[in-house]
Amino acid sequence: RRVGVLVSGSGSNLQALLDAAAAPEAPFEIVLVLANRPDAYGLERARLAGIEARLIDHRSFAGRETFEAALDAALREAGVEIVCLAGFMRVLTAGFVEGWTGRMLNIHPSLLPSFRGLHTHARALAGSCAVAGCTVHLVTPDLDAGPVVVQGLVPVLPGDTPESLAARTIEVEHRAYPRALAMLAEDRVRLEEGRATLADERP
Ligand code: GRF
Repeated sequence: RRVGVLVSGSGSNLQALLDAAAAPEAPFEIVLVLANRPDAYGLERARLAGIEARLIDHRSFAGRETFEAALDAALREAGVEIVCLAGFMRVLTAGFVEGWTGRMLNIHPSLLPSFRGLHTHARALAGSCAVAGCTVHLVTPDLDAGPVVVQGLVPVLPGDTPESLAARTIEVEHRAYPRALAMLAEDRVRLEEGRATLADERP
């Protein structure tokens, strides 16, 4: 399956997907990387991997709809079948999301449905959680609320700070995201009636 990845920053999850796509048996290939910020290191990672990378700077558009129309056009021109959000820090409108229903994934650094939104690690520590983690989910118009595909667990250790917990979590993210993408690319998970169903659950 042809995959497009949207990034805003460092792109370490993008790197995990690029590395996984390089395996001979990988059921997906990354064909396009789009960033909304010129300083997103993810653009460089894509170029180093020989993948087309484009900056679509949200600040050069009058509004969300025109920005998203540019993203959508680039993805469709490249023949993208699955979109992965990997540290993409713009909220997407329902109009854009609905054009990719069941074909768009996001990674979030918490065990959803706990801690949607930002500052997840600080909030997990403030809540005295013993276990933290990450979630790869299908994207629906509600932010960080789509059906879960894969979760990874991370222990919270004594003395953890948001930074130390983030560092432990991102390692787990890098394993979870390629697994979830492979499941979607191989049609082992599907969005049906608002929830993720696994192939072996279907009649
Ligand atoms: C990750 O923690 C991801 O879960 C969140 O943003 C961060 C992106 O990191 N959505 P990177 O750009 O993949 O290194």
